[in-house]
Amino acid sequence: VIAAAGSGERLGAGGPKAFVELAGRPLLGWSVAAAAEAASTEALVVAAPDGFEEAAEAAIAAAAPDLAAQVVPGGASRAESVRLATAVVGTDLVLIHDAARPLAPASLFDAIVGRLEREPAAAVIAAAPIRDTGKRAADGAARVEETLVREHLWAAQTPQGFRVGALRAAQAAAEQAGELAGATDEARLIEGAGGEVLLEEAPAYNVKVTTAEDLVVAEALLAVRGRV
Ligand code: CTP
Ligand code: MG
Repeated sequence: VIAAAGSGERLGAGGPKAFVELAGRPLLGWSVAAAAEAASTEALVVAAPDGFEEAAEAAIAAAAPDLAAQVVPGGASRAESVRLATAVVGTDLVLIHDAARPLAPASLFDAIVGRLEREPAAAVIAAAPIRDTGKRAADGAARVEETLVREHLWAAQTPQGFRVGALRAAQAAAEQAGELAGATDEARLIEGAGGEVLLEEAPAYNVKVTTAEDLVVAEALLAVRGRV
């Protein structure tokens, strides 16, 4: 599942982020190509913004012409878009990925699926060890209350892999509790339901494109990796 239905306010490109060009290809195209390159991928579901269904189909056709793919309308929040897309998934395992992470390599998709096949956990998620020292501050205040032990801190990324039944149950429970829209990743829903979530260390270049500066960094990283 690729979540591509956001509006891209912080990027400020005047349109949805997933369709902004990065090195000659829409952001969405990079994720589609990586998913298609992963040996474990059987099919694709893309959540698209209102009015961008055809643009999503074109991006998929250009990046992965042979992959079975479906485009569904997104929702009001990221978690809702993912829930709507997860509803039409036909496999036992599902990977959720943000179109905003165009650098995720196919090997990361396959590593997560491999661990879900070998280990009994409900979820395996891409994550990076935090490199800076963590400080906790009170809500809205720029005053340090506590230093967090860096060795224990990871930044959660995508792709995030799940047993589809466990994910659907956790999404339904969060929806019921009115907590779905506020969830910034799917792993949190599994944690809330008491399920086990494992970390798969992601390469440092698996950055998220949020602002215009990130787009420049992402293009440089693609060049370093020899992808452009
Ligand atoms: N997303 C989605 N549906 C939404 C909101 C976000 O599918 N209703 C997707 C985005 O397309 C993106 C991913 O979730 O690939 C991560 O969200 P984010 O980086 O916040 O993207 P946007 O919401 O598009 O950006 P912004 O918050 O700056 O508007
Ligand atoms: Mg957003």
